[in-house]
Amino acid sequence: MPTSSPRSVRLYPAFFQAVFSGMDAERAHHIGFSMIRAAEASGASTALRLATRPSKALATRVMGLDFPSPFGLAAGFDKQGVGTAALADLGFGHIEVGTITGQAQPGNPAPRLFRLVEDRALINRMGFNNDGAVSLAPRLKATRKKLTSRFGRRRPVLGVNIGKTKAVPLEEATSDYLASTSALAVHADYLAVNVSSPNTPGLRQLQDIEALGPLLAAVRTEADRSTGRHVPLTVKIAPDLADEDIDAVAAMAVELGLDGVIATNTTVAREGLRTPADEVASLGAGGLSGAPLRDRSLAVLARLRGALPESVAVISVGGVTTGADVRQRLELGADLVQGYTAFLYEGPFWAARINRDLAGVSAGISSGTVRA
Ligand code: FNR
Repeated sequence: MPTSSPRSVRLYPAFFQAVFSGMDAERAHHIGFSMIRAAEASGASTALRLATRPSKALATRVMGLDFPSPFGLAAGFDKQGVGTAALADLGFGHIEVGTITGQAQPGNPAPRLFRLVEDRALINRMGFNNDGAVSLAPRLKATRKKLTSRFGRRRPVLGVNIGKTKAVPLEEATSDYLASTSALAVHADYLAVNVSSPNTPGLRQLQDIEALGPLLAAVRTEADRSTGRHVPLTVKIAPDLADEDIDAVAAMAVELGLDGVIATNTTVAREGLRTPADEVASLGAGGLSGAPLRDRSLAVLARLRGALPESVAVISVGGVTTGADVRQRLELGADLVQGYTAFLYEGPFWAARINRDLAGVSAGISSGTVRA
């Protein structure tokens, strides 16, 4: 990513327009992510880290963990845990790796990621492409070590998001989640149980309380047993749940003593888009993310916060672009905020800009000290 002067921060949308917007979206993602990792490998890590470091005033303690900023990177960007430390250099307060499944799987056939530029949105049907929990475990172990040696006590938090292997029948979902838990909980600062992706057939049925309660109870028991500590446990829900279902998830979270609820995943809805309906329909199935998700995500946050005691954290995600968006979520009672889609549109200094806006001060990024 081009980072030679602060002007590049403002120029990124133009750069994006010129270089990335004509390219297949998944290929553009891989190139962008490779550039972030290359910046780390080239020795720019320290300079980047110093330039993007969140103000100390943003530090927050949630679920018993210390986050350098309330703003983090949502699951799905670093599905394979291959660039987590490089992403941490960009100022995210936490990074949620995954979704990781019990078994390795290729995901859906490409093309499977599409931009809706007019809507500042994406549609994806990636389908949890990943190497599987056992392969990911040593990578996450090394990442946690690297984060600690690089950042010390103020290191970004490592979340690990787990989901169901497509080939595993729904009735056997718990054993698949438990395989991931056994392999990965020990390397996770917190765990996120993903039951809300629209791209694994049947997965969202696990949000039914009769299925969700036993699944989460089993994951919690295995996480704590396999690590010998309390691993903060969260569940990630869809924006397409009815309000009564959100209330039911909240009640269950309290009953089970969950540490947090992450809301929301992508939506299967397609309403209110600027992109012509026939164009949207031609892209096919998948989850919609980005700006069009904002209002529903806010509504789910308000509903959850109203239904949950302070002891259960709410992690708000969906359609966040600016520091003002993040602040609004915090004011509505979110403990943490995440984003993904706007990163692709806003560029590598997105998190740093949000941190600076949140802190209300001019950090290095605006005073010309970014040299990557
Ligand atoms: C996602 N998201 C996602 N979530 C998850 O729990 N596991 C995953 O593997 C993925 N994969 C994924 C891939 C792509 C390409 C996108 C755009 C999104 C959902 C993501 O974490 C987030 O919940 C939504 O995208 C809403 O936030 P934004 O993108 O509107 O900020």
